[in-house]
Amino acid sequence: MGPLSPARTKRLWGPRSLGVALGVFMTIGFGLQLWGGPFQRRLQGLQLRQPWFPSLGPAASPCLPRQRLVFLKTHKSGSSSVLNLLHRYGDRHGLRFALPTRYQFGYPRLFQASRVKGYRPQGGGTQPPFHILCHHMRFNLKEVLQVMPSDSFFFSIVRDPAALARSAFSYYKSTSSAFRKAPSLAAFLASPRAFYRPGARGDHYARNLLWFDFGLPFPPEMRTNRGNPRLPKDPSLLQRHVLASGAGPRAQIRDPKALFQPVSTVADGHSQPASPASLDLGSSPFIQWALAWLDSVFDLVMVAEYFDESLVLLADALCWGVDDVVGFMHNAQAGREQGLNAASNGKLSAEDPQLTARARAWNNLDWALYEHFNRSLWARIEQYGQRRLERAVAELRARREALANHCLVGGEALDPKYITNRKLRPFQFGSAKVLGYVLQSGLSPQDQEECERLATPELQYKDKLDAKQFPPTVSLSLKTSRLPSP
Ligand SMILES: *[C@@H]1O[C@H](CO)[C@@H](O)[C@H](O)[C@H]1NC(C)=O
Repeated sequence: MGPLSPARTKRLWGPRSLGVALGVFMTIGFGLQLWGGPFQRRLQGLQLRQPWFPSLGPAASPCLPRQRLVFLKTHKSGSSSVLNLLHRYGDRHGLRFALPTRYQFGYPRLFQASRVKGYRPQGGGTQPPFHILCHHMRFNLKEVLQVMPSDSFFFSIVRDPAALARSAFSYYKSTSSAFRKAPSLAAFLASPRAFYRPGARGDHYARNLLWFDFGLPFPPEMRTNRGNPRLPKDPSLLQRHVLASGAGPRAQIRDPKALFQPVSTVADGHSQPASPASLDLGSSPFIQWALAWLDSVFDLVMVAEYFDESLVLLADALCWGVDDVVGFMHNAQAGREQGLNAASNGKLSAEDPQLTARARAWNNLDWALYEHFNRSLWARIEQYGQRRLERAVAELRARREALANHCLVGGEALDPKYITNRKLRPFQFGSAKVLGYVLQSGLSPQDQEECERLATPELQYKDKLDAKQFPPTVSLSLKTSRLPSP
């Protein structure tokens, strides 16, 4: 029995989780799972889905795992690590991904349903529905709802704009003309307007990148020719609509017909202010409006600084097991963001308070967004129970460590120079090296498969899912006719 077999796993989880374990998931329909019978022991190796709801009492009723997901993959916020767990979950359960033709949905343009591979407008055939939409896009609710059901679980992740600016500066150093002209991030933030030109190439990477990715409109003085989503015709009406409480109005809000969500002006090439002049876009009511709108659309917004806490809340909200949300960090840059956690970011602030303050001020919309979702996350943690959360986070970390020690050479992320396997070598981009993983040798076939899933970078994983969903149709005769004669 390997070290990651059920017996070992159970020991990691301790008697508390065992006490409430109702059994294995059974797969029905589109992979929809229910709690099944007491046959857990029959499953071997890493395939075991560990039932995990450490906080529920024995009397708690089982829940149905959610399998319709929209993840807005924000840039430089730890979202690649989330993508890996979504890839693995969908892969394991045979779910259908709404995939881009290449690796992004026409970014930085607003998302369009027509960019989804295999998408056909309503009435265009009997294609099975998609389960997961999770690759880079600029969010555009109206078009997302052409692809995904309105009761999908919508979630995303944000990061402190100061940490995000550091990461973005090194990653997009040559992509953004503002960053390219600046000798350092400190120099850039000391006088950003000396380098930053609205409308210049890659300008959205250099300011309020989260706000941009969420597809929100910008105040007029921040407008760029990148296209500015249109605001509602009657903001007072919408405000009432959006601010109406709780889950009730969500269905209406998500009804495309009731929508005021941005419409792209990129296509027609102009960015006329579409909002009434009376609406002061730069003022805080504008920001409050946008945040309330996001609250009505997104079920959960994770916070990179509290990544593991966010994962626990995600598993809880989705009714998933710990093995579904545990994973390794992906797309981390060498020497910069090893450890997307509170400690490292605390250090960042302590080391360079001026840079932090400047980055937050420059990215003022992102800072408002971040503060808002950090507050929501902690309100949710409170609701979940702080002690209960701490225990769950400890379990998650123990599980991650066990997986890392079992699967990975060195038990951690490595410089890409050590990664010779092309399936595992992360795409190198930006001015710092992107770290990846090397698998231990001698793993059992089952463990090899699961460890490989955990270690596979996002681009290779997307290609793998793509090939699975759209099997190559090149005919054998064509292939053989191309073979050079011996
Ligand atoms: C996020 O919220 C927590 C809890 O209220 C707080 O301790 C922390 O300072 C906040 N982070 C930031 C960057 O505001």
